[in-house]
Amino acid sequence: MGLVKRQRVLYNIGYFRNKEKYKASAKTGQKQWISENQEETFMKRETVIVLDFGGQYNQLIARRVRECNVYCEIYSYKTDLEKIKAMEPKGIIFTGGPNSVYLEDSPSYAKEIYDLGIPVLGICYGSQLMMHQLGGKVCKAPVREYGKIEVTVDQSSALFENVSEKTICWMSHNDYIEQAAPGFKIIAHTPDCPVAAVENVEKKLYATQFHPEVLHTKEGKQMLANFVFNVCGCAGSWKMDSFVEESIKAIREKVGDGKVLCALSGGVDSSVAAVLLSKAVGDQLTCVFVDHGLLRKNEGDEVEAVFGPDGNYNLNFIRVNAQERFYEKLKGVEEPEAKRKIIGEEFIRVFEEEAKKIGAVDFLVQGTIYPDVVESGVGGESTVIKSHHNVGGLPEHVDFKEIIEPLRDLFKDEVRKAGLELGIPDYLVFRQPFPGPGLGIRIIGDVTAEKVQMVQDADAIWREEIAKAGLDKEVNQYFAALTNMRSVGVMGDERTYDYAIALRAVTTTDFMTAESAEIPWDVIGRTTSRIVNEVKHVNRVMYDCTGKPPATIEFE
Ligand code: XMP
Repeated sequence: MGLVKRQRVLYNIGYFRNKEKYKASAKTGQKQWISENQEETFMKRETVIVLDFGGQYNQLIARRVRECNVYCEIYSYKTDLEKIKAMEPKGIIFTGGPNSVYLEDSPSYAKEIYDLGIPVLGICYGSQLMMHQLGGKVCKAPVREYGKIEVTVDQSSALFENVSEKTICWMSHNDYIEQAAPGFKIIAHTPDCPVAAVENVEKKLYATQFHPEVLHTKEGKQMLANFVFNVCGCAGSWKMDSFVEESIKAIREKVGDGKVLCALSGGVDSSVAAVLLSKAVGDQLTCVFVDHGLLRKNEGDEVEAVFGPDGNYNLNFIRVNAQERFYEKLKGVEEPEAKRKIIGEEFIRVFEEEAKKIGAVDFLVQGTIYPDVVESGVGGESTVIKSHHNVGGLPEHVDFKEIIEPLRDLFKDEVRKAGLELGIPDYLVFRQPFPGPGLGIRIIGDVTAEKVQMVQDADAIWREEIAKAGLDKEVNQYFAALTNMRSVGVMGDERTYDYAIALRAVTTTDFMTAESAEIPWDVIGRTTSRIVNEVKHVNRVMYDCTGKPPATIEFE
């Protein structure tokens, strides 16, 4: 294989990490090493960069660009210009953000970015920043625009090719561009926003006050595709179907005859990562599945059936039945964070003990995906750090040299596509999210084996009824939780004093915010009567009507 091709292939599988570097950076919470390799990426594949100014839609913009089969990554506005230049992006998109460009200390960027000859599209705050820096005027708008607004566009602009002259766009701004910068032509307006979009064709600079990335902007996808293809001149050659094949080749090349260890949870990410590795290096891979006794009903056996010795994969699957150990550690512990910590730490201990039996390995596989990278603060400007969401963290006492994160460039739906291509069954690929600490955070208060069984049984009934009603594709996450409330009831002629189950079902696109799903009453009714009849020690069922915020999706 020629050098160029080899590098490109290596690139496409994401990154191999040096253990020492990973640990050093993990201390600061900043996985700095990512950037070391990223420069290399851009030389290999056509890339558009999203420069994040603190907008809430940074990932959405990247998703839309990738839908055009163009690779896209998110960087903070604090990223050095030299670094951006070295990446040789085909285009740059500035996100929105909550600030006012004319105030001191508002996020800004080196003005030279407009002179590189690289196309730039500014969105909302990004559009105002571009105008402000290039001599236009941005100020508080006399009329604030919020919501779906009809925008009149100039169809002769490359940005609006195949877009209707009057089109509905999503606006959300207090400031507006009162005057476009010199050299710019106004290509869209609304009654309250005289400069809704501008272009400088010669310099390949474009800006929109509205948000083309959100679905409320009816023809937003077309606009972004226009930017990517008409303005940036991308070919759109980044396709998922080459991902699996190229990853396998690259992993083989990297791993050679080394030994690889993977913690498999049965979730989408770790399953896809494990199967990918197994296709690449076969017998050199060992997968350890820790059953912590906090999985859904029959889940441990289901995972074993698919990935174990009788399944279709060659994973050297080791199941560790550590249920009792976890229950023992959790005995009497009620505080949610304490429970999460105990489960996380015990998980690592069990994994380490198992790894010790295997002996030294060369590589450890992690199922990190792109949103994890962005949310850890490395990619974009987001400061959300969900440290408690990662059950495992990194084992300190496992003897390995490097980490393989084959999915670190992919969004969840891209991971799913890879999973399907690898032949992983649909029901595993399209699984709803399940938290690492499992039912431990769906049992309010202390955890016991009996309570685990109650919540498992109730949850199985709820999932069955949701599926029977055909709602499983519409509702994004649904489960039962066990409250620690006991109350008086009557069963037959007997007084009962038993537990209450809470049913949860939410619709959401990003799991950061969510709505309580409107489940038809008959489905809730059927589920309720089945739960109180079939699950011992439950005499009451409630439906959680709370959205996120103010609640969270999980109960703890
Ligand atoms: P919350 O409860 O924060 O949950 O609204 C948002 C989403 O994250 C999932 N979640 C977790 N996932 N480890 C995980 O892997 C965790 O510790 C964890 N806690 C919550 C939750 O199921 C929902 O999809």
